[in-house]
Amino acid sequence: MQIEVRIGAIQEVEADAVVVNLLEGVTTPGGATAAVDRALEGRISRVLAAGDFRGRLGETLVLYTDGRIPAPRVILVGLGPETSFHAEKVRHAAAAAAQRARELNVRRLATVIHGAGRGGLSPEEAAHATVEGTLLGLYTYQRKRENADRPRPEVLLLVEFDAAKEAAIAAGARRAEILARFVNRVRDWVNEPGSDMTPRRLAEEARALAHEVGVRAQILEERAIVALGMGALAAVSRGSEEPPRFIILEYAPEGRLERPVVLAGKGITFDSGGLNLKSEEGMLTMKGDMAGAAAVLGATLAAAALQLPIPVVALAPACENMPSGKAFKPGDILRALNGKTIEIVSTDAEGRLILADALSYAARYNPRAVIDVATLTGAAIIALGQDVAAALFSDNDELAEALLRAAQVTGERLWRMPLWEDYLDRIRSDVADVKNSGGRYGGLGTSAMFLKQFAPEGVPWAHLDIAPMDMAEKARGYVPKGGTGYGVRLLVRYLEDLKP
Ligand code: BES
Ligand code: MN
Ligand code: ZN
Repeated sequence: MQIEVRIGAIQEVEADAVVVNLLEGVTTPGGATAAVDRALEGRISRVLAAGDFRGRLGETLVLYTDGRIPAPRVILVGLGPETSFHAEKVRHAAAAAAQRARELNVRRLATVIHGAGRGGLSPEEAAHATVEGTLLGLYTYQRKRENADRPRPEVLLLVEFDAAKEAAIAAGARRAEILARFVNRVRDWVNEPGSDMTPRRLAEEARALAHEVGVRAQILEERAIVALGMGALAAVSRGSEEPPRFIILEYAPEGRLERPVVLAGKGITFDSGGLNLKSEEGMLTMKGDMAGAAAVLGATLAAAALQLPIPVVALAPACENMPSGKAFKPGDILRALNGKTIEIVSTDAEGRLILADALSYAARYNPRAVIDVATLTGAAIIALGQDVAAALFSDNDELAEALLRAAQVTGERLWRMPLWEDYLDRIRSDVADVKNSGGRYGGLGTSAMFLKQFAPEGVPWAHLDIAPMDMAEKARGYVPKGGTGYGVRLLVRYLEDLKP
């Protein structure tokens, strides 16, 4: 989609539809909405007086302009109540308006920049949220032909009356375009079936994009993984015909890679459970088990595209978890890269195993912070609810608070959970340093405590269990059903807020 800023009056713009907004409960519109209302001889006011449009978040109404303005249609979109106003509402409303425009086969769409007036957002934030909501809300997975064939808006005109705001609007729009591009790419990666999005394919796509944005990519193949001593990744991968990959992206602004933030993501491209085979129901969505890897790769690429001043490393161990005559077994003892031994209780607790090697690998960078992202446990979904929030664990309050602040800004819901020592007691083993499952009860806490055993010592570490958020069960606002791209915007926002 082509995005342009236009200085002028929205009621004078040539487009297939123009979008204006309304806060919930407002009966006399102001700003651009009032200008369009006047041009339409009070049509919007009459709709409001009749009580036919309330301004609820994401509510839309199409009005035909009968030649009173150049655009044949006006799409009125609700922003929800003024009291809870936030950029998240702008993203939601912009998505609703864009989706309505697409249903109407609109090619050239003009919109006001939501939230800059009574909403109180800065012009840059408002433009950012408007464009982000539009681009994320129009995402569809292209392998469904109906989606691929459907005409979509080609041009988005951001219309602003005040010429002094032009540069800020252009900057916000540009940042949103970059972010949305990587979020939508991550959605594609997650939506792609397990048999297509293999470790090799994920590595190659990451490499190609890295090349484009000036990030160094290094991809370790099976021999190097084994030779380095990544015994956990090698074991999980062994049951599969597909070879594993350990994907490393290094973003070094101005050639500097000192004290980077290291992001590690779980890249199980399909989780059958291994010999502890999952049920039909449990396995159905397991193509999404690489969403953590996708998120950290996407965030690192986006950070580079945005030219952030912070060095970032993405580590993505990628493999399949499959049963076979060569598969690793319950009772096996593995040795991770940091030398710690692991007793296998369940081959289905595989994500923490491959992350054990990735977290161990992180130590070599002398990182400023290490954050891992994983679709780690069903217990996270039990605790927080599908599509409701991801779980955050951290041994460092400053890091935890920075991540919670970032999540608040981007609307990617995150909730902190405790890292009590009791969870460590549950994963002590008689035959190894630690076992890979502490059983059903407290499964969320024990999984986090397991990971902590492999995080570099003395470095602030955080773990995001995104199992509730990687694939949406229901579309909502700018988040479609299926792959969500959760984590990309959150991590980039966290990086943007760091002091260089
Ligand atoms: N990939 C799953 C976790 C998962 C479940 C993600 C549902 C998204 C939706 C993970 O590898 C897994 O199987 N975890 C087990 C751990 C258990 C065996 C200790 C689980 O949660 O049941
Ligand atoms: Mn599993
Ligand atoms: Zn898994």
